[in-house]
Parts: sequence; structure tokens; C-alpha cells
Amino acid sequence: TLSNATNIFWQECQIGNPERQKLLNQKGCVVWITGLSGSGKSTLACSLSRELHSRGKLSYVLDGDNLRHGLNKDLGFKPEDRTENIRRTGEVAKLFADAGLICVASLISPYRRDRDVCRAMLSDANFIEVFMNMPLELCEARDPKGLYKLARAGKIKGFTGIDDPYEPPLNCEIEIKQEGGVCPTPNVMAGQVACYLEEKGFLE
Ligand code: PPS
Repeated sequence: TLSNATNIFWQECQIGNPERQKLLNQKGCVVWITGLSGSGKSTLACSLSRELHSRGKLSYVLDGDNLRHGLNKDLGFKPEDRTENIRRTGEVAKLFADAGLICVASLISPYRRDRDVCRAMLSDANFIEVFMNMPLELCEARDPKGLYKLARAGKIKGFTGIDDPYEPPLNCEIEIKQEGGVCPTPNVMAGQVACYLEEKGFLE
């Protein structure tokens, strides 16, 4: 979408992404974790961040819940608010990646189109979409914040998975799911993502 502002120009600096990458000895990218509430997004994000840190790579976690305390505090959960939430977070993630960091964004991001907008802001090579493919029944049984219970009781309207849609990715880079009815541990999930990043040359 075009900017609403007029008479604006793009300013270039001598120190750009290549210089920062060289200084940090790493390549920036965005790992975008999507999935239902209670599917383990934040757990994976934290575990991945620890793993990257231990491998000497600078990362930063953008967590949906946390961003809603500050940057996105003016937004609720109506479709247009979620869309703006994802757009804004995508722009911030892009800045972090441009700064040279591995940015780990963890938001429900329920609408496919919104995630694809973020992907288009980066490039396919630098946008790694991770789908937490956990059944609703499992997320609801976990209910870490008691929100599913409130949603079922009609005390929260428009809750993802209950009375608001979740659109699973069609072509994600990584899918995290149960094996034989067992959920992978945080370390195993982080290892799966780290392996992918390694293969793609982000951990050299
Ligand atoms: S979104 O859809 O991507 O804009 O959502 P996000 O910014 O990730 O925020 C999700 C967390 O907000 C809490 N919450 C809700 N989630 C879904 N639907 C509704 N209506 C809702 N109201 C509050 C919930 O705790 C989500 O946290 P997670 O970490 O996903 O469990």
C-alpha cells in the first residue's frame, strides 16, 4: 500500500545491511511463528532464541502479547486490528532483519493474506514461516491463560479457533506437529528450526 504522506524521500547511508552483517558476522532474517493461542509459539520463540544465543547469533523475539503492551496497545482483535497488528510487526521485524538480527516473531497471525504481506516485505529467502500445527483440542485443553474457557462461555468474542478463523499456511517453510500423539519438547522444536537455518546458511 502507498504511503499517505507526500513529499517524502528515501535516505541512504554509507553503512548499510552488508556492512552490519560483516560486523556482526551473521545474516538477518525473520522467523515468523504462527498458530493458535496455546499452540506453543512463545515457548518455541524463547527456546529458539536461547539456542541461537548459544551459537553466537544475535536474535530478538517479537511476541504478539508483549507488543500489545506497547507498540500495538491501540489495537484490539477485530479483523482490521489484527491486520494492522501483523503489518506493523512485519515492518518492525523487517527493520530488525535489516539491522542484521535473526528476528523471531511469534503472533497468532490468523489471516494468510496478512502473513503473505509480511513475506512480501522481506523476500522468500529471508522469511521463514513456522506453523505450529497443534490441534485446537490440545490448545484448548492446555488453556494456559484460561481464555478458551472464557471464549466458550461467550465472555470473549471473536476468539481465534472458537468464533474467529485461523487460516493455516499453504506453503510454510517449517511445520511443527505432534509425532504419535506426542508434542515435541521446546528443545526439539528449536532444534528443528535451527537445522533449517543452518541448511540455509544463517548459522555460519
Ligand atoms: S493476532 O491475532 O496475531 O493479532 O494476535 P496476537 O497479537 O498474537 O495476540 C494473541 C494473544 O492475545 C490474547 N487474546 C486473544 N487471542 C485471540 N483472539 C482473541 N480474541 C484474543 N483476546 C486476547 C491471547 O492471550 C493471545 O496469546 P497467545 O500467546 O497467542 O496465546
